[in-house]
Amino acid sequence: MEEIKKNITADADAASDQAGLAQFKAKYLGKKGAVTEMFASLKDAADKKEAGRRVNELKMFVESEYTRRETQLLEEKKAGELKGIDVTLPAYRAAKGTSHPITIVMEEIKSIFMSMGFSIEEGPDVEEDYYNFTALNFPAEHPARDMHDTFHIDETHLLRTHTSPIQVRTMEKYPPPLKVIAPGRVYRRDAMDATHSTVFHQVEGFMVDENIRFSDLKGVLDLFTKELFGADLKTRFRPSFFPFTEPSAEVDVQCVACRGKGCGVCKNTGWLEILGSGMIHPNVLRAVKIDPEKYSGFAFGCGVERIAMLKYGIDDMRLFFENDLRFLKQFNS
Ligand code: DAH
Repeated sequence: MEEIKKNITADADAASDQAGLAQFKAKYLGKKGAVTEMFASLKDAADKKEAGRRVNELKMFVESEYTRRETQLLEEKKAGELKGIDVTLPAYRAAKGTSHPITIVMEEIKSIFMSMGFSIEEGPDVEEDYYNFTALNFPAEHPARDMHDTFHIDETHLLRTHTSPIQVRTMEKYPPPLKVIAPGRVYRRDAMDATHSTVFHQVEGFMVDENIRFSDLKGVLDLFTKELFGADLKTRFRPSFFPFTEPSAEVDVQCVACRGKGCGVCKNTGWLEILGSGMIHPNVLRAVKIDPEKYSGFAFGCGVERIAMLKYGIDDMRLFFENDLRFLKQFNS
C-alpha cells in the first residue's frame, strides 16, 4: 500500500499543468486506469471485503492528491504573476473631478442670498410664452421681445430666454411675503462669440411684501456685490428699462480688475455692468392676483457666465462650454 501511495504522490507532483493533471487522473482512475483495474479484479480476491476497502482507500487517495496538486499549481501561478511587483506600493489614486466654474459661481451666489434668508425656486427650461413674456408685461408685438429671440417648440412653448418667468410661477404658488432666488439655464437665438452664447445661466431674485422699497433693492444688491467681489467696491444704479419692472435700473460695480481706477477690462470707465433690476411692475403683480396697492416688490437678474468671467479673469465665454480639461482643472471648489 505504502509503496503504491508513494508512486501516486510522485506522479501527482510530476504534473505541471492542467493537461498533466488530467493524465495523472486517467492513469489511475480512467477506464483502463490502475485503480479501476484493481476494482475489476476484486472478484478473484481471497478476502473481498478487505481488498475492496484497500482499493477504495487508493481511489480516495488519488482524488485527494489530485486536489492537493491542483491547488499547489494554482498558487505557484499566482506567485509567478506577482513576481517583480512590489505589493507594498500604494494603489493608484482614483482621479477626482472638480466642479465646473459656472457651478462654483452659482453655488456662491446661492449661498450669499441664502444667508440673507432667500429660498430657492426652479422652473422649466421649456416654458410657456405666457410665463416668459405675457405675464411679465411684454405685450404681444412689443419690441422688447426682439432682444429675447429664442427657439420655439410650438405655438405656445419656447426655450425660456430668462429666469424671470420663475417670478410669476412662484407668485402663483405662494402668497407674499416672498424672498426667493431662482437659478437656471436660459436660451437665446444668438451667434456664439466671446461674450454671447445660445445657452447660458442666470440667477433671478425677488422679494415681495408690504412696504418693499427701492432702498431695499439697493441694500440687498449692494451687500451681494460686496460679498461676491469685495467690500471695497462700490455699486451704482443707472436708470434702464425692462417691461416687468418700474422703475428699472442697471447695476454697476467698480471694476474688479483695477478696483475702479480704469483699465482695459472696464474700458477705462472704472465700472462694470453686472445685473438688471427694478421694482416689480404692478401689471406683473396683477397677473398673479397680488394687489399692487397692498404689496410691492423688487426683482433682479444676473448672468452667471459674466460674473464668472469677471471673477476669474476669463476673456472668452466659449471656454465654459468646450469642456477642455486644461481649462476646467484650474477651478477647485
Ligand atoms: N430678465 C432680464 C434679462 O434676462 C434680467 C432682469 C432684469 C431680471 C431686471 C430682473 C429684473 O428680475 O428686475 O435680460
